[in-house]
This record gives sequence, structure tokens and C-alpha cells, in this order.
Amino acid sequence: MEIFREVKPIRAFLEQFKNKSIGLVPTMGALHQGHLELIKTSKKENNITVATIYVNPTQFNNPIDLEKYPRTMDRDILLLSDAGCDLLFCPSNEVMYALKSSLTFDFGQLDKILEGKFRAGHFSGVGLIVSKLFNVIQPTKAYFGQKDYQQFQIISNLVQQLMFNIALECVATVREKDGLAMSSRNLRLTQEMRARALVLYQSLTFAKQLLLDGMEMAMVREKTIKLFEQKEVKLEYIELADRKNLILLNFVVDPKESVLLISGYVGEVRLIDNIFLA
Ligand code: PAF
Repeated sequence: MEIFREVKPIRAFLEQFKNKSIGLVPTMGALHQGHLELIKTSKKENNITVATIYVNPTQFNNPIDLEKYPRTMDRDILLLSDAGCDLLFCPSNEVMYALKSSLTFDFGQLDKILEGKFRAGHFSGVGLIVSKLFNVIQPTKAYFGQKDYQQFQIISNLVQQLMFNIALECVATVREKDGLAMSSRNLRLTQEMRARALVLYQSLTFAKQLLLDGMEMAMVREKTIKLFEQKEVKLEYIELADRKNLILLNFVVDPKESVLLISGYVGEVRLIDNIFLA
């Protein structure tokens, strides 16, 4: 696997793949099976696969979260190279923000709800860094995990608005045997916290059944709050939304068009998850 830290050399290297398909897997490192699934999917569908590892400061609204974000670069390099990734781009802050950026993104209603409501400026930072990575790598297709479902919708919107000639794929969340969604932030959980964190997935599956049985979200939310209280996990939100535009819903109209999203704090570690209703 070739490793690049600067923009010019990776651009020069990628010149030879101009007429080939390039798959891009953008990450913030601390890789897990979910990321490797993205690499695997990209490898199947493209001539070459490029991964990026960059912990982007502009998408963190909480400085402690940024400071404590797990960094496992040596292990990540081994995992990527074992997975057959062809190229890794892992720039520094000086490279990605050589010119202090004044650009901000507003995705309208899409970034005022769910994650956007609780993490001011988060999606503006995501929009900025993903645009930069798209410009540097110029991929044919880019791969993102379903766990960050709102992020996927935001990036789809970004691609349409800025007319990037890039296809996107949302790859299903990879879960531990007991259902916990794989996440880099899970590395911050102690064994005891990890057991409590399971309440996110348990609540999603429980709430899904209640909604499919016809219960309204207000009642489902009350029941979820109780489950979270039992596990001493702080519920931030549980919301039902339209899968295509994330408009929030009070009850299920069409299970195929619905997604249930949740977020909570286990101690100071913030976790998110979601499931489709069909
Ligand atoms: O999902 C992530 O890991 C990040 O938000 C991304 C897309 C790599 C942008 O920094």
C-alpha cells in the first residue's frame, strides 16, 4: 500500500489511474470491521481503492471529543494493507487547512435536526473536509457507513449541489455479535460502559416493533427514556424519519421509507445508531 501525506504527490500518483475507476473510503482512523467492509465493497467495484485517515477538527463541536478521539495509526495501516487497500492518504492539519478556511456550509433543514441539532457546525465541517477530499482524490465512487446515516444524506446533498461527478454508496452497519454498532468511539468504552451502551441497539429494535404495531413516536420516546434510565445512559434523541429526506415522522406510514435514529451518552462518550424499519 502506498502512503501519501501531501496533496501534490498523491495527485501526481493518481494521474496514471485517470481512465480507471477509483473508490474512496474516507475515515477518521481507529478502524474497525465496519471500515474494512467499505474497503471490501470498494475493491469489488473499482480498479483501485484509496482510504483516507484524517481526524478533521472543523467537524468537532466539542474540543474534549476531538482530543479524546481514538488514534491508532500504526494498527490502521496494517489493517488497510491486509485488506488490500491500494493507497492511503493521511494528511496533517497543516496540509488540509494550509489556508485557514472561511467556508461554511448550510444544508438547510437537513442539518438542523438529529445530529445537526445537537452538534452545531458539525455538518459544515463534514461538508468542507469531504469536498476537499473529493477534490484531491477525484474518486469515481465514495463509500460511507449507514451508522452515520444523516451524514450520508448530507454528503448526497453536497454532491448534488456542488455537481461532483461522484457516485455514493451507503454500506450497511457492521455490528458486534450482541448488536452494538461498530464505531471508533467504542474504543473509549470500559467493559462496564460497553454493556450499558447496548441499550442503543436494544431500544432501536424494541421501538421498531412498537412502531410497526402502530404506536406513535411520543409514546415510543417515553418508553425509550425509561430503558435508558435503567442503564444510566443519557438519551439525546430517538426519532423516526423519512429515509430519503430525513423529515421527522410521528408514526410509520411506509416501513420501507422509514428510518429510526438514536443517540446517547454513555458517560462522556457519545454514540449514535439507526435501523431501517423494513
Ligand atoms: O465518517 C467519518 O469518519 C467522517 O465524518 C468523514 C466522512 C471521514 C469526514 O471527516
